[in-house]
Amino acid sequence: MDTTAFLKSHIRTVPDWPAPGVQFRDITPLLQDPRVFRELIDTFVHRYMDPSLRPSVVAGLDARGFIIGSVLAYELGVGFVPIRKKGKLPFTTVEETYELEYGSATVELHTDAVKAGDRVLLIDDLIATGGTMMAGRRLLEKLGAEVIEGAAIVDLPELGGSRKLLDAGLPLFTLVHFE
Ligand code: PRP
Ligand code: HPA
Repeated sequence: MDTTAFLKSHIRTVPDWPAPGVQFRDITPLLQDPRVFRELIDTFVHRYMDPSLRPSVVAGLDARGFIIGSVLAYELGVGFVPIRKKGKLPFTTVEETYELEYGSATVELHTDAVKAGDRVLLIDDLIATGGTMMAGRRLLEKLGAEVIEGAAIVDLPELGGSRKLLDAGLPLFTLVHFE
C-alpha cells in the first residue's frame, strides 16, 4: 500500500458529527498508532528538509495544526509559532476575522512570532473552506513574512478551500483527499 492509502486507511469518518449530514474526518487514529504517526510526520519531514522548501519557521493553526506542526518544526530544527483562536495569546497580537458558514471567527498571532524575511510553512490538519488557512496567511504576511506553502493532512476539495487558496497564489501540499 502506498503512503497516501496507508494514511487514508487510518482516518476515521464519523457520520453526522458535529451536525446532521456532516461526515467528519477524524485524524486521531493517525496519531494513536506510533507506526502511522511516524509515517505521517516523516512524509512532511522528507518534503520540507529539501533545501528549496525548507522553512525558517513552522506556523501551526489552532488546534490540530499544533499537533503535527510542532513535531515537524522539531524535526526540521526550526521554531514553531501558534496561530490561535482569539483571546488565548497573552502578548500583543495581530488579528484576522474570517467568515464561517454561520457567523465568523477570529485568529491571532503574536507580533514578534515572525519577522520580515521569514519563510513560513503554514500547517493544519485539514482544509475545508480554506478560511482558516487564508486568515493565517494574512496574519503572517501582516508581519512581513512570506508563506512558502500551506500543508495539511486532509483536503476536502468539494468544499472549495484548496482551489481558493491556490487561486490566491498559495502553493499547497496535502496527503489525503476525500471527495
Ligand atoms: C477545523 C480544522 C481546520 C479548519 C478547517 O478546525 O482543524 O483548522 O476547521 O476549516 P476551513 O478550511 O473551513 O477553515 P476547528 O475550527 O474545528 O478547530 P479545532 O482544531 O480547534 O477543533
Ligand atoms: N474533519 C475535521 N475538521 C473539519 C472537518 C472534518 O471533516 N470539516 C471541517 N473541519
